[in-house]
Amino acid sequence: MDQIVIKGGKPLNGTIPIGGAKNAALPLMAASLLSDDVLRLSNLPHLADISTMTHLLNEMGVNISMEGDAPGGHMGKVFALDASGVKETTAPYDLVRRMRASVLVLGPLVAKHGHARVSLPGGCAIGTRPVDLHLKALEALGAEIELSEGYVEAKAPKGLVGGHVLFSNVTVGGTENILMAACLAKGETTISNAAREPEVSDLAHCLVAMGAKIEGIGTDTLKVQGVERLHGADYEVIVDRIEMGSYAVAAAVTGGDVVLKGGRIDLIEAVVDVMREAGVEIEEVEDGLRVSRKNGAIKGFDVMTEPYAGFPTDMQAQMMVLASVAEGASMITETIFENRFMHVPELVRMGADINVHGRSAIVRGVQKLSGAQVMATDLRASSSLVLAGLVAEGETVINRVYHLDRGYERLEEKLAACGADIERIRE
Ligand code: UD1
Repeated sequence: MDQIVIKGGKPLNGTIPIGGAKNAALPLMAASLLSDDVLRLSNLPHLADISTMTHLLNEMGVNISMEGDAPGGHMGKVFALDASGVKETTAPYDLVRRMRASVLVLGPLVAKHGHARVSLPGGCAIGTRPVDLHLKALEALGAEIELSEGYVEAKAPKGLVGGHVLFSNVTVGGTENILMAACLAKGETTISNAAREPEVSDLAHCLVAMGAKIEGIGTDTLKVQGVERLHGADYEVIVDRIEMGSYAVAAAVTGGDVVLKGGRIDLIEAVVDVMREAGVEIEEVEDGLRVSRKNGAIKGFDVMTEPYAGFPTDMQAQMMVLASVAEGASMITETIFENRFMHVPELVRMGADINVHGRSAIVRGVQKLSGAQVMATDLRASSSLVLAGLVAEGETVINRVYHLDRGYERLEEKLAACGADIERIRE
């Protein structure tokens, strides 16, 4: 298994291009199942999760051709997805186990083909993460759901019928699944307490480009008028706010000065507010965001993760690194996932002073972190270890790098281009 080796202590200076959002790209790819025409997606990041979704859709009979990089200097890939030949409506355990987001094929398949069989994702490193809300929502549109042999079987032989879906908890994937399904249901669907994450809105905009009728995009109430069919479209994936936030912390924690090319403040306002409060300078520049910390120490801060527009759970681990080297104490509270502090013992091994009490972590800033052998456990936990390695004295060796490859494209190249001493050891 590959390792990443970092010799810390170098401020980052330069430009980092930010790619398309993985969490937008995955539902957009699943949306291709709703149409018999070609959906052309551009600015797709080159990541392991995108390959897993490609594999899953391929197995169902979606023809995916790669059309190279987008013109105009885009970094991202362009895929043309043609689902006109779909024969298979099963998502097997082997792929769903690797990537929970595979469950996003459920809504489109049952809406378009009247049938879907999708493996239950099972446990996962950051909590139990059930799909009960996805299933309840589909039932509200008339799907018959059965669970057997570890699979969800959803049927709607006469098609789905619009209805009222009220989510008891904000769920990003659940909102995306039911939004896609509702586009082809008969009549009107109202989705209340819908997730407002930018990736949900990105999906909604793409569905509209495919002919869907959706009102309330960006709010917590989505109204969908079902249509007979959706057509093809050309759509560019939104920028990855979590990649952007992660590199913003990298610049801040190393006392660097970095332009995040393609970055947008409006997508990470909650993160920007906390970072500014901590003493990090963030400004909009012509081609993105500039993040710098030239003078002065970082000040402690409090963070609580919440659904969008609150502070994103996917930035919690990275902010903990900033808190670890801040002056004074910080409190970081995780309200979205029950088991999302797995990075804590690894950061403590690097010299951080962190105590977890239930859902909250008290972080007392230390003068310095020191390099160590550490283990990546999930995607964002891994990126926090990279950030800690960048600021730590000495050498940090990160094992199980495949977690990072699920969500960060060319991470070591992007950081090395800004002066980090980082390399991947391939096995
Ligand atoms: C998505 C993101 C993930 C992010 C998360 C929260 C993708 C591919 N992944 O995950 O990076 O961390 O949003 O912003 O976009 N829940 C239930 N029942 C359900 C569904 C969810 O209890 O049926 C719970 C979950 O266990 C969790 C909470 O609701 O505690 C939020 O989960 P959800 O928003 O659904 O996360 P994902 O869509 O899986």
